Amino acid sequence: MTDPAYFEDLYRTDPDPWRLDTAPYEERKRALTLASLPRPRYARAFEPACARGQITALLAERCDELVALDPVEAALERVRGRDLAGVSVRRGTIPDDWPAGTFDLVVLSEVLYFLTAEQRARCAELTVASLRPDGHVVAVHWRHSFTEAASVPDEAHVDLHTSALRPVSGYLDDDVRLEVLERA
Ligand SMILES: C[S@@+](CC[C@H](N)C(=O)[O-])C[C@H]1O[C@@H](n2cnc3c(N)ncnc32)[C@H](O)[C@@H]1O
Repeated sequence: MTDPAYFEDLYRTDPDPWRLDTAPYEERKRALTLASLPRPRYARAFEPACARGQITALLAERCDELVALDPVEAALERVRGRDLAGVSVRRGTIPDDWPAGTFDLVVLSEVLYFLTAEQRARCAELTVASLRPDGHVVAVHWRHSFTEAASVPDEAHVDLHTSALRPVSGYLDDDVRLEVLERA
């Protein structure tokens, strides 16, 4: 796994290191992610790697409860500052700090490529174990390689292709890969 200390340092030197607030790619990715959700509302969702809460804020409008997790306290302070209804903000990493309970939505956006193959496989197991029968998983990732990624971004979804999950829909272009999955 990319060391959580790396992310702490990153946010210390720049509060928005990936330009999540301003990059056209990020705005387009968020629009695609929200548009891909098969249902208008979800009861309980999990969003690891919530960063400063840009996707969290949009998901909160469609979820009764949402658990938002990230290892970086400075980012989480920004999420808490948004004062989003139904959102529980937690510090930690996946797979180690996967929350207890079940979810009808798991959003894995720009995070799996920071994990080792073993950790991605564990996340796939935890996703399946915590997914409610009618639940959806959305995986979305930047497709280009970059130095801090522990795996090739475009391949980060592959471990979700277990016999327990089947793809419902997807979107692919030069920059982004998005898949929605449900229980097989
Ligand atoms: C590129 S940002 C993605 C933000 C958001 N998910 C999005 O797609 O816009 C990556 C975030 O992943 C967090 N992160 C890195 N490793 C993580 C892990 N193992 N578990 C949870 N979050 C992690 C970082 O702290 C950072 O905030």
